[in-house]
Amino acid sequence: MSHYKNVRRVTTRVLQGMKNKHEKIAMLTAYDYSMARLLDTAKIDVLLVGDSASNVMAGYESTLPITLDHMIYHAASVVRGVNRALVVVDLPFGTYQGNSKLALKSAIRIMKETGAAAIKIEGGAEVEESIRRILSAGIPVMGHLGLTPQSIHKFGTYVVRATDEEEAEKLIEDAHILEELGCFAIVLEKIPARLACQLSKEIKIPIIGIGAGGDVDGQVLVLHDMLGITQEFSPRFLRRYHDLSAEIKDAVSRYIDDVKNLDFPNKNEQY
Ligand code: KIV
Repeated sequence: MSHYKNVRRVTTRVLQGMKNKHEKIAMLTAYDYSMARLLDTAKIDVLLVGDSASNVMAGYESTLPITLDHMIYHAASVVRGVNRALVVVDLPFGTYQGNSKLALKSAIRIMKETGAAAIKIEGGAEVEESIRRILSAGIPVMGHLGLTPQSIHKFGTYVVRATDEEEAEKLIEDAHILEELGCFAIVLEKIPARLACQLSKEIKIPIIGIGAGGDVDGQVLVLHDMLGITQEFSPRFLRRYHDLSAEIKDAVSRYIDDVKNLDFPNKNEQY
């Protein structure tokens, strides 16, 4: 039974309450008004305006090219479709690393120009200063560790992270740093389930997993992947809840046939 299904607004405090009461947090990405509205009506807890928009909306190979202006456009569209969910927005590559004043400026633009409730940042100790400064302005921050796609050129591969002791230790240290700084939640992407489970026990703030097993406080997936709109991406952790690409192709083919065969529009579909 859910204690939080009927809350009018999901806040960072609600998410902490969910963790404390062992109620799982459901999070999905969203990039536009219409989808955000549908997901919010279905009572999704958190909507992430992910920089995965760079891949699924703009067709780039990585998340690196998307700009702050693009993210603001997507986030403002999502916020207009939402009444209940907590909207979190990714700070894109190049808007926070190595410069905490720039990080604060980027975060403030997101909060002012979109109406979102929080931002997400990839990395641990190396972005500590940026996180500290953003938090000091009263902006809630979600961390992101493990396979952090903005660092893909450092990793050179999308394989599971933190399988060796050294990387696992650094990840554990980073998670504690994020918690101590005052982040309200942490996304753990593509790491061993055992490590994620250990962290969700050790760390008091909610741990949201993607490819991190079931023993964490919540799950996130990229909407286009779980709906089967994207076809080429099928990692082991991805469960497809629909084959929307087939349905869309079928609907469009039927429309084309109807137009070509003079079947659309009919007498009732004209003025
Ligand atoms: O950008 C994104 O969609 C993300 C999720 C994969 C967590 O960061």
